[in-house]
Amino acid sequence: MIRKYTFGNPFPTEAVVKDIPASQGTLPYFTREDGSLVLTLEEGAPVYGLGEQVRGINKRGWTYTSNCSDDPHHLETTHSLYGAHNFLMIGGKQPFGIFIDYPGYLTFDIGYTRKDTLRITPADWDMDVYLIEAEDGRFPSIVRAFRQMIGRSYIPPKWAFGYGQSRWGYQNEADVREVAARYREAGIPLDAIYLDIDYMERYEDFTVSDEKFPDLTGLAADMKKEGIHLVPIIDAGVKIEEGYSVYEEGIEKGYFCKEEDGAPFVGAVWPGRAHFPDMLNPAARRWFGLKYKGLLDMGIDGFWNDMNEPAIFYSEKRLNKVFDEVASMKGQNLDLDKNNHLLGLVNTLANNPEDYRSFYHEPGNGLPRVRHDKVHNLYGYNMTRAAGEAFEELEPDKRILMFSRSSYIGMHRYGGIWQGDNMSWWSHLLMNVKMMPSLSMCGFLYTGADLAGFGGDTTEDLAMRWLQFGIFTPLMRNHSAMGTREQEAYRFSNAEALGRIIKLRYCLLPYLYSEYMKAALHDDMLFAPLAFAYPEDPQAAQVEDQLLLGESLMLAPVCQQNATGRYVYLPEDMLLVTTSGPEDFRCQKMTAGHHYVPVAEEELIFFVRRGHLLPLSKTAENVASLDSSALDVIAFPDGGCSYTLYDDDGVSKDYDDPSRLSVIDVSSDGAVRYEGTTERKIHTCFICS
Ligand code: GLC
Repeated sequence: MIRKYTFGNPFPTEAVVKDIPASQGTLPYFTREDGSLVLTLEEGAPVYGLGEQVRGINKRGWTYTSNCSDDPHHLETTHSLYGAHNFLMIGGKQPFGIFIDYPGYLTFDIGYTRKDTLRITPADWDMDVYLIEAEDGRFPSIVRAFRQMIGRSYIPPKWAFGYGQSRWGYQNEADVREVAARYREAGIPLDAIYLDIDYMERYEDFTVSDEKFPDLTGLAADMKKEGIHLVPIIDAGVKIEEGYSVYEEGIEKGYFCKEEDGAPFVGAVWPGRAHFPDMLNPAARRWFGLKYKGLLDMGIDGFWNDMNEPAIFYSEKRLNKVFDEVASMKGQNLDLDKNNHLLGLVNTLANNPEDYRSFYHEPGNGLPRVRHDKVHNLYGYNMTRAAGEAFEELEPDKRILMFSRSSYIGMHRYGGIWQGDNMSWWSHLLMNVKMMPSLSMCGFLYTGADLAGFGGDTTEDLAMRWLQFGIFTPLMRNHSAMGTREQEAYRFSNAEALGRIIKLRYCLLPYLYSEYMKAALHDDMLFAPLAFAYPEDPQAAQVEDQLLLGESLMLAPVCQQNATGRYVYLPEDMLLVTTSGPEDFRCQKMTAGHHYVPVAEEELIFFVRRGHLLPLSKTAENVASLDSSALDVIAFPDGGCSYTLYDDDGVSKDYDDPSRLSVIDVSSDGAVRYEGTTERKIHTCFICS
């Protein structure tokens, strides 16, 4: 059951697609105290949710802020990352979910100030609050009800489940061709190469540098012959430059965000001074979205939207003030306080809250103009929506890859997200692991982190361990920052072993794609904490570095340098699979309880759950050449098990066609029964009795 409570005059975020009339009563469970919604938490009861956030799967014990922020060096003590996902589930005798549909600055103090108190504080009391309860009182059912309310998660093309290589630093066509050639030479599969800002002319959106990429259409076609898709970046800020058509049209039509006096707001990003399209204005959104057509026409079928918190390096006005003040300090004796002041002036130039309070949106539809900070968390959502709506118009029958850096709930219908700039740190690998189920709860199914880490120099073993986890995440992209150690798989001394791990991804694809599609089509989670499947097991509730992936698998990644094994907790008997790549699946039945499992650096482990099976294909050079007409099966039938496999052509959108589904049954004596309109040979390669 879902109940909606409206406070003040909320901005229509369009996060929710279901029509739910506002309830007249008062919001249960919570009291309203000093501008906050307050609730006493039961001792030991977990709190889940918040999507892209720091810390654990159980969010108790910290203060989290919804304030989309560009923060590449985030730590455990950070309060806000690139997205704002205001959905929480509160455990206890009667678990329930709460979605605060409020696009401004919002804090969730979850047992931080007082251990037993949840305190939710919005900057203004203009919000819709949805209370979500499930008949069975279970978390998965609460998630499903919430997800039904916010609409179907984005479905990418199948090729976007392949491995992608990215780096801020591929300067020209020759660099891109080299990456493709070296992957092919090394015999490592590859489905995508990402183009970062250097492909553009002077960092201008929707342009292609003539000098560096003289024939992008030709390059894209050549790459497609190799089964590789080019995926260019699009940034939020539009460079101010006479003669640049996007700038000139935006000015002429009045489509940029404006300051109080109506002048377009000037902030700086990669190209220097820029204007920010008013993504909340439907006409401006359509205008910006249709600009992607130029690249689509060049044979591009995937994009990543960046800097859309929006990140602002400095505003023109603030920069001038800072220059004046710094000049006035010249020649002075800078003691501790003055020196700190000087540093403070420079260090607060970027993403300054005052700047976010200095410009406005014109949302149309009879709505008054709104100051940016009140709707800050909607910017990246609406930039991606601009693209998503345009793709619907331009390519109604084709799936286009789209993922964004910034997001709000609602954006999950238009694209995926990557988890923003991270660092080549073991702690960020662990954060990637813990974020996956929280993102599933909030509808962001197509997601992954920059594998091997974006900032800082990676190490070979971190790259290995991160890829070993990354083969399970829907977005599997290796991305790094300019100036850091090069981390393409073929760069490392043991490229062969890394290659084998990447090949394994393709063996897992029939299962991963099937589970992704079923999760999207049925509003289910793709990744889940153990506690969701084993609610009666108090030990399962403690585990945060093991995850369930779909119905059959439990993952237990190694996230520690120099570790050659790890402890795992099994809530029930499971089948341990140890592998270093295709054709190497060592299976062993393990009993419920705690175990130490050796995991050599070149290996990974995962578990097949009791009563489940895992279909595997042979590996492939890319998704297009994957042959799923013959599947191997690893099964733990426990008296007989059955798996419903979803598959389709990977580009069209008739997901509900029943011919997409087939059923694999394995009985305890190993006999296989297959039913489906697609011809398939099923071979049991391991059966656990
Ligand atoms: C931002 C993005 C990163 C990208 C860089 C340059 O930091 O998050 O992925 O490489 O900008 O475009």
